[in-house]
Amino acid sequence: MRLAAALLLALAACSSGRPRAGMSDGERTYRAKCTSCHRVYEPAEQTPAQWSQTLDKMEALKKVTLAAEERAQILQYLSGDAQAAAPAPLR
Ligand code: HEC
Repeated sequence: MRLAAALLLALAACSSGRPRAGMSDGERTYRAKCTSCHRVYEPAEQTPAQWSQTLDKMEALKKVTLAAEERAQILQYLSGDAQAAAPAPLR
């Protein structure tokens, strides 16, 4: 029983943090938080700077409440997953 739990933990540790085939954590968070009210906007529709403003606007209008981590994940996804490999810049 303990061994199974340890194995599960190890598996979970290995599978987190890296982009996998399919959806990244950022995309998953984005879809969960941002697409209940309107269509799924594509990352390419805005520049990273615009996305940051859009997130500000959605939060300011009380459309969505984001934890700092969720915001960072969503911004990474929307800014292009290529940048997701690097640590989030402090803006
Ligand atoms: C509770 C509903 C709701 C949620 C959740 C929501 N939005 Fe919106 N969003 C709106 C409404 C309403 C508008 C259009 C009206 C407006 O511009 O004020 C809008 C407009 C937009 C637009 C169009 C451009 C613009 O600035 O008007 C973008 C892009 C957008 N949302 C992105 C997001 C993102 C990213 C998230 C997640 C962080 C999000 N939305 C979550 C309601 C929502």
